[in-house]
Amino acid sequence: MPDPRLSRRGLLAGGAATAVGALAGCAPDQAVPPVALQADPRAAAASGGPEGSAGAATEPFDGVHQAGIATAPQTYGVFVGLDLRPQIDREALVRMMRLLTDDARRLTQGRPALADTEPELAVLPARLTVTFGFGPGFLTAAGLTDRAPEAAAPLPAFAIDKLRKEWSGGDLLLQICADDALTLAHALRMVVKDARSFAKVRWIQRGFRRGAYTQPAGLTQRNVMGQLDGTVNPVPGTPEFDRAVWVSDGPQWLRGGTTLVLRRIRAEMETWDAVDRIGKEFTVGRRLDNGAPLTGRDEHDDADFEKLNAIGFPVISEQAHIRRAHVADPNLRIFRRVYNYDEGLTSEGHADSGLLFASYQADVSRQFLPIQRRLAEADLLNEWTTPIGSAVFAIPPGCSPGGWIGDGLLT
Ligand code: HEM
Repeated sequence: MPDPRLSRRGLLAGGAATAVGALAGCAPDQAVPPVALQADPRAAAASGGPEGSAGAATEPFDGVHQAGIATAPQTYGVFVGLDLRPQIDREALVRMMRLLTDDARRLTQGRPALADTEPELAVLPARLTVTFGFGPGFLTAAGLTDRAPEAAAPLPAFAIDKLRKEWSGGDLLLQICADDALTLAHALRMVVKDARSFAKVRWIQRGFRRGAYTQPAGLTQRNVMGQLDGTVNPVPGTPEFDRAVWVSDGPQWLRGGTTLVLRRIRAEMETWDAVDRIGKEFTVGRRLDNGAPLTGRDEHDDADFEKLNAIGFPVISEQAHIRRAHVADPNLRIFRRVYNYDEGLTSEGHADSGLLFASYQADVSRQFLPIQRRLAEADLLNEWTTPIGSAVFAIPPGCSPGGWIGDGLLT
């Protein structure tokens, strides 16, 4: 008979239990010998790094705000919506968030998770960030419905929506981003594995942007529709960004945090392909080549919404996307940190692609909703885009080195 303590299953269960026990101060339910899962520095060399390689780059985990929002967008992003299992109470949430925070803190700094089964995969963090968000169900499980921010409530229905359950809602959000797909896959697996006894995966949405080494940092990326996307956006590190994005009043536990509206928006590429260049530029109000507004020359020129053409019509149409989405007050802008998605092809060769439209703002109802209402009422782009998923999360603030994400809410 093989020794059950040495089976793969036994080691995994034991490792996870040890991790939970160590973090949450509860006894592991199985006595197993401790398993040494330290990364051997020689493994780093065998992986081609980390010293001197871009894969060694890290983003700080601890801080006033969670990483992954003001962070320069990484090449790959995955959003996972989880549903808490029945009977998960506040105490279980504490255990879960301590455990997941520990995983995130280690992995983002290039160290294996506590019960990491592939520790060598952790040594190239490639600017990995792990960001946590709480949906309404999380707050209910925490017994805090009276303190639930309205901000995490689902959006009202819009006439343009064709929402599908499999891309909507969720109690807990994991947003994991990195400049390397293997790093991301490993981090995702580690964190979800530890979340498994507390929550079930409801949906997973994978996205990508122009690679970190494909174009110089700081340039606006293009989306799958070919447009420069992200030109008019609050700039991280500025007071305008801080005011627009971070919560500064309302419930204490959310201050320093933000809210995320994640919309999965399908791009109708077949019909978009049939539109000529002039039509595409008219739809958005910007040029396709350099992203300049139709009234300007360069990408960052201000759009002139008053300008008329020779026959007296506005150069930027009344229904152009940028006119309908424009917000004059910088404090009321949203921060768009958008990923493309591309889920392959139908048998006819048609793409299933679009945007994982991630919008961060201090207050969903004051900032996101008015824009979305105007766009739903009239936006030429609606002809070629369809929202098929929608979820809203409160993103709690970051934590100090000894702390964990959500500690201000759960303790
Ligand atoms: C697939 C769907 C979408 C596509 C392809 C798209 C594309 C674009 C493009 C190309 C621009 C111009 C460049 C820029 O400033 O980034 C833009 C601007 C903008 N979009 Fe969208 N967008 C989409 C959905 C949305 C949604 C759902 C919202 C908010 C509810 C939104 C809000 C904005 C805002 C606030 C601007 C800046 C407007 C300005 O002040 O000039 N977009 N979008």
